[in-house]
Amino acid sequence: MHTSSSDQLREASALLNAANRVVVFTGAGISADSGVPTFRDALTGLWARFDAERLATPQAFADDPALVWGWYEWRRALARRVAPSPGHVAVAALERRTPGTVVVTQNVDDLHEQAGSSTVIHLHGSLFAPRCSACAQPARTAETMPESDGERIPPPSCDACGSPVRPGVVWFGEALPSAALEAAVEAAANADVLLSVGTSGLVYPAAEVPQVTARMGGKVIQVNPAPTPLDPIATVSLRGTAAEVLPALIDAH
Ligand code: OAD
Ligand code: ZN
Repeated sequence: MHTSSSDQLREASALLNAANRVVVFTGAGISADSGVPTFRDALTGLWARFDAERLATPQAFADDPALVWGWYEWRRALARRVAPSPGHVAVAALERRTPGTVVVTQNVDDLHEQAGSSTVIHLHGSLFAPRCSACAQPARTAETMPESDGERIPPPSCDACGSPVRPGVVWFGEALPSAALEAAVEAAANADVLLSVGTSGLVYPAAEVPQVTARMGGKVIQVNPAPTPLDPIATVSLRGTAAEVLPALIDAH
């Protein structure tokens, strides 16, 4: 049977209104509406323009720290220039309405916090939390940032031990921060509804989080303009951008 998209919006809205514990699971798509590029969109995604192997692995940083540090400083500069989108704002409004709301994000920007969400779990770290590559001591972020994406910038040295400072993000081949992953899995296991927004659902173990909710009997609502591997576990898939769909979903009664 064909279900119209306004019926789907109503169904998703009813599920959210009835939920006490909500997890909002987000990926690069929610920040795309703010002007931050995604990773895997065919023409505009970062992995279409840049080689992840040369920029987002521990080996890449060991081989060419200035290339990697410069690229993350460029991404930090970009993230600093943009503002939260209507999607981020709607997610913050959902937390005010349903205080048991937890945001679990794969994004390394701080746009959820800027929009006013207070419980945000960062599974893949943050552009704003550099640390020593040897002793893990947190480092300050620099005042000056690059204008362009190809600029090589040598990383600063750790105040404590002199080793190079590295971006505070998770690279391919690295483990996720264990406290964040545990908190995300626990929230997902206890969620009445998990709202997945703007993620391709391809990167593990993060992509496991919505599956935990589904396995434990919670409902999954998905917002994405394109189909994803999460479609089979979603009770409702709303096709559209986060900026279009979330304000309507969260304001709808
Ligand atoms: P991807 O780039 O893999 O996927 C972005 C998703 O957002 C796609 O499914 C798009 O269809 C969707 N999308 C695009 N524009 C959108 C919009 N305006 N509103 C809603 N959805 C939109 O990004 P992630 O799933 O976040 O990891 O990628 C997961 C991880 O892979 C990232 O955290 C990063 C990357 O490599 C690390 O760096 C460790
Ligand atoms: Zn150090």
